[in-house]
Amino acid sequence: MSLLTIAETPVADLRRILELGAAVKADPLSYRGALGGRSIGLFFQKQSLRTWVSCDVAAIQLGIHPIVIRNDQTGLGTRETPEDVGRALERYLDLLGMRVFDHGDLAAIDAATEMPLVNLLSDREHPCQAVADLMTLAEHRPIEGSKVAYLGDGNNVCHSLMLATTKAGGSITVATPPGYEPDVDVVALARTFGDVDLTEDPHGAVTGADAVYTDVWASMGQETEADLRRRHFARFQVDDAVMTAAGPEAIFLHCLPAHRGEEVTDSVMESGRSRVFDQAENRLHAFKAILLHLLG
Ligand code: CP
Ligand code: NVA
Repeated sequence: MSLLTIAETPVADLRRILELGAAVKADPLSYRGALGGRSIGLFFQKQSLRTWVSCDVAAIQLGIHPIVIRNDQTGLGTRETPEDVGRALERYLDLLGMRVFDHGDLAAIDAATEMPLVNLLSDREHPCQAVADLMTLAEHRPIEGSKVAYLGDGNNVCHSLMLATTKAGGSITVATPPGYEPDVDVVALARTFGDVDLTEDPHGAVTGADAVYTDVWASMGQETEADLRRRHFARFQVDDAVMTAAGPEAIFLHCLPAHRGEEVTDSVMESGRSRVFDQAENRLHAFKAILLHLLG
């Protein structure tokens, strides 16, 4: 069993992972060493701080030996094919986590191997992030019936958030500039689970929201578009006026890294409504839950 997308994760599995995440966070000591004797790989084709460190520490605390594999040493798709990388690694590892540019590489490796594979971010989704996002939302109010507003790029993080929120019983409004909407297939799938509104009006989107979420305007690999995107996205910055429009109960979420002064102001990042470092912490508990679900 792999975890490549929230799209492919059954609702019951998502609920179980969220329950496990809350349980390991509440009582981490009772899970110490629970998966002893295993080895996992953590493969990075792009930069990472939170995912790298939280997954490494999660593995160690569960008794697993983690091995961080850097693409500049291994050459996915250049030194050898993704399938051959996966077929070699499955002879050593109990599970492989991968951060890749092209989601197709993950799908190819998953098809070529029996080893559980976890998406640590691709161009399509960021499922481990979505588990931590929902854990953070659930610490604020029950996800069932809650409303999330996402402002910015309809990207990987937005896709996983839309699918996870609706599968867990919430609704979501996504406000993007024209041309930056989330993928139509992801929207259609999320709508089979809950309400998904798309809009170009950021203030309208956040009205009545329990959480306001944003992500960088230019994701890793889109750096050359950064100037253009800063112009296109300027109206979608989460500032104090946006948080006021959301109402006093709304929390602020961001997967991080944040580009302060672009998609979010310092003032919102540092406000009492910001839960971004709780969210970052929850990446640790979320990855433990995913490991326990896939290997337990
Ligand atoms: N949120 C997240 O995935 O952070 P990193 O890119 O630092 O891993
Ligand atoms: N959308 C961002 C998320 C980083 C965690 C990216 O893909 O770069």
